[in-house]
Formats: sequence, C-alpha cells, structure tokens
Amino acid sequence: MANRLRALPKLSTLQHRMPPEPAPGTKSSETSDYRAMTESQWLVRFVFLETVAGVPGAVAGGLRHLHSIRRFKLDQGWIKTLLEESYNERMHLITFTELYRPGRLMRFLVFATQGIFYNAMFVGYLISPSFCHRMVGYLEDEAVSTYTKCLEQMDRGRLPQWTDGGFRIPEIAVKYWKMPEGRRTMRDLILYIRADEASHRGVNHTLGNLDQVDDPNPFIDEHSNVSHMHFAAGKPAGLERMEALEKAGALKGGGSL
Ligand SMILES: [Fe+2]
Ligand SMILES: [Fe+2]
Repeated sequence: MANRLRALPKLSTLQHRMPPEPAPGTKSSETSDYRAMTESQWLVRFVFLETVAGVPGAVAGGLRHLHSIRRFKLDQGWIKTLLEESYNERMHLITFTELYRPGRLMRFLVFATQGIFYNAMFVGYLISPSFCHRMVGYLEDEAVSTYTKCLEQMDRGRLPQWTDGGFRIPEIAVKYWKMPEGRRTMRDLILYIRADEASHRGVNHTLGNLDQVDDPNPFIDEHSNVSHMHFAAGKPAGLERMEALEKAGALKGGGSL
C-alpha cells in the first residue's frame, strides 16, 4: 500500500498551488490568486488547523495502547511518539488560542469536525494504519506549507501587528519551546511551530513505510525514553524502511517499549 501511495503524485502538488512569480514591478500580493490575509485571519486558520492536527496522534496512540494492553504485548515504541505528537499539536493550539479566542460558530465547527475526523481516523486506523500515517504525512506537508506562506507574508510586511517590536508572544510558548531571550518574536514562534510540523511529516511518512506490527519505532531511544522526532525534520519523505530499521538498531533496541 505504502509503495503504491508513494508512486502517486504528492497531494500537496495537486491541492496546493503556490502563487505565481509577480511580474516585474508588481508586488506579489497584487497578483490575482495571491490571497493576503490579516493576522486574525491567519489565527482562525491556525486554530482550526491545529484542532484537526491534534487528532491523529491521539487516535493512533490510543488504539495502539489498547492493542498493547489487550494482547499483553509491547508496542515497539510507537505509542510514546504518537502521543507526543498530539501533545505537541495541542500546545500549538493552546498557544494560538492565547492570541485568538474562538467564537460560538468556530467552536461548533471544531466540535463537528472533531466528531467526524476522530471517528474516520478511528475506523481508518483499524483498517489500514499505514494509509493513515501516509495521509497524515501529507497533511503535515500542508501545515509546513501554510506556515511558510505566513512567514513569507510577514517578511513582505503584510502582518504589521506581528512584526511590530512591541508585540509579545504568549508566555506559554516561551516556556514550552524554551525560547531564548532575543528570539521571541512571532516570526521565531512560527519557525518553531513549522519545525515541529516538518518533524511530524517525516515521522508519519516513515511510520507509513514500516511494518505496522513488527517494526520498531526508529525515533525513540529506550535508554532515555525520549522521542527524537526532530531527526525527521530533514526527511520530508520520511525514512525508507531499511534506513528506519538501521536507525532503530543503532539505538540498541530502541522502540521496544
Ligand atoms: Fe501543529
Ligand atoms: Fe503537525
């Protein structure tokens, strides 16, 4: 399944068109299909995106946890990484909701979307976990693309509230990412979040390449019991299966928890 899916064009190339290069002397924001967005429009988009993004890791981690305790078997270390992914997505969401409080309509849409998406993921993961990881890999690719577009708009001066020297990002973000003094701008925050999304992309594409029952998770070190998801950030297409197994072996039994 994974190989067949990998042979397909990436979803991002089908669904996601980058704006054309502007004609000489024309600002790209003036081109017809470049949609400049305000700070609050970006926040609506981020909040909705993150409410969806927090679901797959929780479903996959939850199902694998139930499977482990039902079958009295270890899980090859996948559960921790999956639950950490959903925790990380929830922190993205909580950070953005410090800047934007959703109204009633948004809350209803989130409620409805979560109900549909959670159940679809639940059934989908029972049927084909590798397909679900592949799909999440593509969704994370879209998330990377979204945050990249936001950074581009910021760099073009289209988001003055966020580039204003007096703008303060939420304290919870400073603590969570341990952001150093002098590197606490909104641009820095989006860079941190985009790096997380790039890790999720690589992790999910890698997990989609693996045997869902027997292969160890290459992103966990059993000695420190810590996930190394950041390793996947530089691997947009994920690790090939043999590469992943080699990495898991290099961690001396990593992924057996
Ligand atoms: Fe996220
Ligand atoms: Fe993500």
